[in-house]
Amino acid sequence: MSTQISPFSKIATERKKVTTLTLKHKKQRAQAISMLTAYDYPTALALDQAGIDAILVGDSLGMVVLGYPNTLSVTMEDMLHHCKAVSRGAKTALLVGDMPFMSYQVSAQEALRNAGRFLQEAGMDAVKLEGGIERLEAIRLITAAGIPVMGHIGLTPQSIHQLGGFRSQGRSGVEARRLLEDAFALQMAGCFSLVLESIPSRLAEMISEKLDIPTIGIGAGAGCDGQVLVTHDLLGLFERFTPRFVKKYANLHNQMVEAFIQYIEDVQCHRFPAAEHSLDIPEEEWQEFIKDYHLAERSIPIAF
Ligand code: KIV
Repeated sequence: MSTQISPFSKIATERKKVTTLTLKHKKQRAQAISMLTAYDYPTALALDQAGIDAILVGDSLGMVVLGYPNTLSVTMEDMLHHCKAVSRGAKTALLVGDMPFMSYQVSAQEALRNAGRFLQEAGMDAVKLEGGIERLEAIRLITAAGIPVMGHIGLTPQSIHQLGGFRSQGRSGVEARRLLEDAFALQMAGCFSLVLESIPSRLAEMISEKLDIPTIGIGAGAGCDGQVLVTHDLLGLFERFTPRFVKKYANLHNQMVEAFIQYIEDVQCHRFPAAEHSLDIPEEEWQEFIKDYHLAERSIPIAF
């Protein structure tokens, strides 16, 4: 089974490293920014080869890889472990590590220390954290240390209990105004980019027009400067639920189940392994081995 890789991938492998400056220039030139999540080496390698601009090692890891009901249980150690794998696979895309719940909320100092670990230990180029004006102190401190920060407003999954669930945001005039203020405040505090999640398209478009930094939308319409999706949603690898804003490009869960069923049948029917999957020993080596074995069997079997 051989799969052709698009000739575009050649361009991708010859690309220069994507930086925060690259994203800024893309916004200035009205070129859309592409971003997807990855949590492991092979996915990072494939995304880099495909030519993605940025990879987010999202704390969605908790839901789509680790099987938790939400992102709240994800720890710094979980994140660093997966960030390391991604940074071994992707050499060109901008790598953004998602700061997990309670790694930046307690104090700005702790936020800075944890943000530093993403770059120092896990090979990330930047960090992302959720929240608006309540995060300004932490963001100022982190960016002052030379660590690029991506903000994230709208539906912020680490606050689902406060939001009353995975609910879209910014659908009243008051909420829309608060989000616009948050967006400006995050830009002022030094964020290089901003994720807008599950907010009305018109509001996302307006925020994107007003800000100098690029916005990356997820469920925020076509007016953002870029788009991000959870890769497991796009590939049809996460079956628990699929948000309305996801476009599925494959159904790998079904393909996996199909492949596993075939493997089980092949094993049960002795179709696998076939000769081409098996090793052989040269005939003369085998004959010698058999001769020795029979000799040993006749004299002192234990010595063989
Ligand atoms: O964790 C994640 O994957 C995210 C994206 C949904 C933006 O934060």
